Amino acid sequence: MMGRLKVGIILGGMSSEREVSLNSGRNVYDNLDAEFYEGVPVFMDAQGGLWILPWHLISQNTTRDITERLKGEARRIAYEDLKKEIDFAFISLHGKYGDDGCIQGLLELLRIPYTGPGVMASALGMDKHLQQKILRAAGVAVPESLLVREEEWRQDSQIVKDRVKEFPGYPCFTKPIREGSSVGVTVVRDEADLERGMEDALKWDRAVLVEEYLEGREFSCIVLEEEGQFHPLELTEIHPQSEFFTYDDKYMPGRCRKFTPPKTIPPDVTEQIKAEVIRAFKALGFRSYGRIDGFILNDGRILITDPNSSSGMAPSSFFFEQAACAGMLPSMIITTLIENAIRIHEAKQGPL
Ligand SMILES: Nc1ncnc2c1ncn2[C@@H]1O[C@H](COP(=O)(O)OP(=O)(O)OP(=O)(O)O)[C@@H](O)[C@H]1O
Ligand SMILES: [Mg+2]
Repeated sequence: MMGRLKVGIILGGMSSEREVSLNSGRNVYDNLDAEFYEGVPVFMDAQGGLWILPWHLISQNTTRDITERLKGEARRIAYEDLKKEIDFAFISLHGKYGDDGCIQGLLELLRIPYTGPGVMASALGMDKHLQQKILRAAGVAVPESLLVREEEWRQDSQIVKDRVKEFPGYPCFTKPIREGSSVGVTVVRDEADLERGMEDALKWDRAVLVEEYLEGREFSCIVLEEEGQFHPLELTEIHPQSEFFTYDDKYMPGRCRKFTPPKTIPPDVTEQIKAEVIRAFKALGFRSYGRIDGFILNDGRILITDPNSSSGMAPSSFFFEQAACAGMLPSMIITTLIENAIRIHEAKQGPL
């Protein structure tokens, strides 16, 4: 067992998605191939402090349970010392400071290779407004949207209401520009509802994206980079059991129906979607892996709605469901991801 690569699984974090991160991280830890890797759970607390966790703590139910036991049972480390603890970082953080370029920047400074896209692409994967601009410029179809900054809304909400009425009209979706797991996302049915949607979104960021309401079938596709090629895994068709694909639909056991390969999207359309997914992945400069979500509209148009620079990694996540469809056990796809990421970081010039 000597000489195994020390893989730090970074989990927890400062975002609204820290519980999702804990679920992802402990599943990655449990499925890490012990023949090649030594898993090191690295917990980021709500202030950004890093702790090396004893393994028994990662099965705690909440990050709060872990946090209360950190002082007695875990070991606090300075950022500079992370390099002494791990050879490679498996980023299982989600959301702000996690998959938005922040932790990636720290790892670049420390010269620690990591999973997922680099600093800039991660930041773009997080910012729903900027990513739409870039995708549109690259000829990738995205939803039509209106950006509303908090100060515009606070100064004169009637002006905003008038603009939304004109475009995109009702129903529409309101969402914070930088969040994940459907946090702060609301369907707004009419003008009277807009206030609730705006305020829900503004709890999480200082700007809100008001998007046209899409009708069609929703899909999600993991992309893996291998030797400079980008490979889509099998597409998953999503049938939410709520009004849309909500936080509960995403994480409550036995709730959402997901079909991999797709149930109602025909194979030729599935191939077109995968081609569009790869175009979006490349346009944003994603590397290593990512998850691209979108809609096939009732009129047949394919729209990319949510490119993500990371993906949840709980047992029934898209990531492991699609890997299974390709015959890969969780440990196999985790190994593939790590080995490919090491090669990507060896070949980079400057930060990824
Ligand atoms: N314009 C839209 N039209 C129809 N449904 C939408 C629209 N925007 C979002 N939704 C629904 O809301 C869900 C969450 O939206 P979105 O993907 O933007 O959020 P997210 O928090 O980034 O999600 P993720 O956890 O996948 O990163 C979508 O999966 C979809 O079901
Ligand atoms: Mg997202």
